Amino acid sequence: MKKALLFLVILICCTSCSDDAQYVPVPPAPKVIDLPETLYNYTNLNLPPHFLSNDGIGLPSSVNGIDNNPASNPVTDAGATLGRVLFYDTHLSRNQTVACGSCHRQNLAFSDSPVRSLGFDFVPTRRHSIALINQRYYARGRFFWDERAPTLEAQVLQPILDVHEMGLTANEITQKIAARPFYSPLFQAAFGTGTITNERIADALSQFIRSIVSSQSKYDNGRAQVANRLVPFPNFTAQENQGKELFMKPVNEGGAGCFQCHATEAFVSVNSGPKNNGLDASSTVDFGAFETFPSNNEFKGAFKIPVLRNIAQTAPYMHDGRFANLVQVIEHYNSGVKNHPNLSPQLKDINGNPQQLNLTESQKAALVAFLRTLTDENILSNQKWSDPFINQSL
Ligand code: HEC
Ligand code: HEC
Repeated sequence: MKKALLFLVILICCTSCSDDAQYVPVPPAPKVIDLPETLYNYTNLNLPPHFLSNDGIGLPSSVNGIDNNPASNPVTDAGATLGRVLFYDTHLSRNQTVACGSCHRQNLAFSDSPVRSLGFDFVPTRRHSIALINQRYYARGRFFWDERAPTLEAQVLQPILDVHEMGLTANEITQKIAARPFYSPLFQAAFGTGTITNERIADALSQFIRSIVSSQSKYDNGRAQVANRLVPFPNFTAQENQGKELFMKPVNEGGAGCFQCHATEAFVSVNSGPKNNGLDASSTVDFGAFETFPSNNEFKGAFKIPVLRNIAQTAPYMHDGRFANLVQVIEHYNSGVKNHPNLSPQLKDINGNPQQLNLTESQKAALVAFLRTLTDENILSNQKWSDPFINQSL
C-alpha cells in the first residue's frame, strides 16, 4: 500500500515536472556583454603616410622609433577585446561603481570633465584625468603626470589598487574577474589558456590602450594632401592655417613654438621628458616628476607633456585642471608664463625671462581654431573602443 502511494507521488511529481518543462521554457542566461562575432581590428593601425616619414623640417615629425609597445606584449585583436571588457568593468572596483571608463570617457577622448575625478568612495583624485590617446607614442614609456609608472603594463593595475580610485587588493583583482563566467573564454582567446592572472589583466588593458590611436582628424585630411606640415592645408580655413603656422614655427621665426614640446604628427610629448611650462613661479603642493625622481632637481615642477589630439574634448586643462578652456591655455602661453626656477628654456626669451608672445586677438583665436582641427570623431565614437556592457549589475 505504502509502495503504491509512493509510486503515485513520484508519478504525479514527474508528470508535473515534465508539464512544467513543456510550458515554462528555461529563460536563456541574460547577456552581460555584447561583443561582435568577428573581432574588431585593433592590430592594423592604418597609419597615414605622414605618420611614417619625417617631413624634413626641424624636429622629427614621424612616429618612427617612439612606439613604447614591448615585444613581450604585442597588441592582438583578442587581447585588446579582453582589454576593452576589463576597461569598462565596474567589478574591478570595491563596490562595483567605478571602471577605468568612468574617469576616461570615450566621448571626452578618454579623459574626464571634472577637475578631479571621483573614485569609488567619492574621494577626488589628486590630479586631473589624462586623455588616453596615442599613449603608445610616448617614447620614454613612463606614465602618469609625474611619470611614476615605469611602463604601461605597470600603470594599468595602479588605479585598481589605489585605495580611493577602485580600491581592490592584488588578490581580489583576480578573484573578482575569475568570478565572472564570461572571462575564461576571453582569456583563452587572448592568451591560449583560460587562466586568469593580474599580469594577463595588465597586458590586456595595455593592449586596449595602445590600440587607441588618433590619425583621422581634419588635420590629417589636410596633411595628407601636402608635402610638409608648414604648407597651407587645402581643407583648412585661412584662420586654421594661420593657427597651424603659429603652432609649428619656433618663436624666433614668428611662431608660438608649440611644436617644440608637443611633437610629431601624433602630437605627443617630445622625447626629453617632463617639462615645466611656467604655470607657477614655485612648486609648493605638487612637485611633479621630482616626486618620482627625487635626485633630479630639474624635475621639480615638471610634468609629462600631454597629448594634444582631441584636445577640444578634454577640458579642463593641465595636471590640476586649472584652465577651463583653450582660450585660457593660449593666454597662459601668451602672457602668463611664470619664472619657475625650472622653467623650460623653450618658454624663455633671449634674456632668459619668461616669454611674452604678444599675440594679437586674431592670432590667439587662430591657435584655438587650429587646436580644434585635431578633433578625431573616430576616437569619440568607434564601437571598438566603446563600453560593451549591457548589464553591469550581473
Ligand atoms: C577615479 C578616476 C580614475 C579611474 C577609475 C582610472 N583612472 Fe586613469 N587616471 C586618472 C587620473 C586622475 C590620472 C592622472 C593621475 C596622475 O598622473 O597622477 C590617470 C592617469 C592614467 C594613465 C596615464 C596616462 C599618461 O599619459 O601617463 C593611464 C594609462 C590610465 N590612467 C589608465 C587607467 C586604467 C587602465 C584604468 C582602469 C584600470 C584607470 N586609468 C582608472 C583617473 C582615473
Ligand atoms: C616647454 C615645452 C612646452 C611648450 C613650448 C608648450 N607646451 Fe603646452 N604643455 C607643456 C607641458 C609640460 C604641459 C603640462 C603642464 C602641466 O600640466 O603641468 C602642457 C600642457 C598643454 C595643454 C593642456 C593639455 C591637457 O591635456 O591638459 C595644452 C592645450 C597645451 N599645452 C598647448 C600648447 C600650445 C598651444 C603651445 C604653444 C603656444 C604649447 N602648449 C607650448 C609643455 C609645453
